[in-house]
Amino acid sequence: MKKIKLILVGYGPRGKNWLQIIKKNKKTEIIAICDINEKTKDKYAIDIPFYSKISQALLESKPHGIILSTPPFNRMKDLKACAKYRLPILVEKPLAVNFKEALSLVNFMNQQKLLLMVGLNFRYLPSTLEKIKLIKSKKVGKPHFSKFIYERWRDGKLKRLNKYPLYMKHPMLWEQSIHHFDLIRFIYNSNAKTVFATTSNPPWSMYKHHTNVNAIIELNNGIQINYIGNWQSNCKSINFEWRTDCTKGVIIQKKQFSNLSYRKLNSTKFKNIKLKKFKMWSDDANHLLLDFINLMKIKNNYIKVNNDHLKSLIIVDACIKSAKTGKKIYL
Ligand SMILES: NC(=O)c1ccc[n+]([C@@H]2O[C@H](COP(=O)([O-])OP(=O)(O)OC[C@H]3O[C@@H](n4cnc5c(N)ncnc54)[C@H](O)[C@@H]3O)[C@@H](O)[C@H]2O)c1
Repeated sequence: MKKIKLILVGYGPRGKNWLQIIKKNKKTEIIAICDINEKTKDKYAIDIPFYSKISQALLESKPHGIILSTPPFNRMKDLKACAKYRLPILVEKPLAVNFKEALSLVNFMNQQKLLLMVGLNFRYLPSTLEKIKLIKSKKVGKPHFSKFIYERWRDGKLKRLNKYPLYMKHPMLWEQSIHHFDLIRFIYNSNAKTVFATTSNPPWSMYKHHTNVNAIIELNNGIQINYIGNWQSNCKSINFEWRTDCTKGVIIQKKQFSNLSYRKLNSTKFKNIKLKKFKMWSDDANHLLLDFINLMKIKNNYIKVNNDHLKSLIIVDACIKSAKTGKKIYL
């Protein structure tokens, strides 16, 4: 079997995770790493050609695709460099930290007829897939409203974490809520219709800009979501609860990646849903990688894939607009 040859661009904490995933996957092969900071090179990268310039990496290697694991700023120059070689790209979320910029990146790749898949690894979690199955089974009926709570004290100064969220605008929304909004769209199978939101930063926050998000999101299919997300709750253990009230009962997920159950209206007990064994940050990324290399083979599918992330990013954008104006935003 011919392996898919990949160049990994961006060798920060996320890129280092990607290297292990690519190496472990029998269908893929890493042929080069590129990071503008050569000091990021470590013992795991020793036998792999290492470049500080993407143009050089592309010129000297013959990849089939790119994993772009850089921070979400100014990605156009890298997209253009890769487009010269007609390369599909799997890019880390969020595509950009500005909706207009994200739109121009997607438009560019669409014009080039090239795949630009954004890595939303949470879509591959057993809790995500089982929730979709449960909704489709109609055991608890049709979802109508939901409460999504993610309260976390994120230590942005930890060595293993990226530092730019400490200084950027709306770090919670662009870096974290984007995962949640994407899951909301993915699981409830609908795009957002309206958004009303407030954002703030608590006085003890280590982040320069808002880490608290409160949003009411209404989807096109009528589901209403009450969203609370933050990165500076003042308690070091994470509090997660995602509850969906449906016509015949409720679905509750009590942990970020597990603890999924449902209860029918007249039942006295919750029924636990058994989830497949899963190694977080590894199995999810591997499924995402497999999806990417499968999509690489399908011609003419790029527009649907490329445009998809915009429908999640627009919720982030609407939260910012709503918080700024005090108005409900119609999408
Ligand atoms: N999906 C997830 O679960 C998940 C988890 C963590 C991070 N991420 C995302 O991954 C991306 C990277 O995160 P990180 O934590 O590794 O960030 P980081 O800032 O810690 O590291 C990024 C690395 O990219 C390098 N770099 C920057 N611009 C470059 C360029 N143009 N070409 C080559 N190298 C460049 C930097 O030198 C750095 O080594 C972000 O978009 C982040 O949101 C996703």
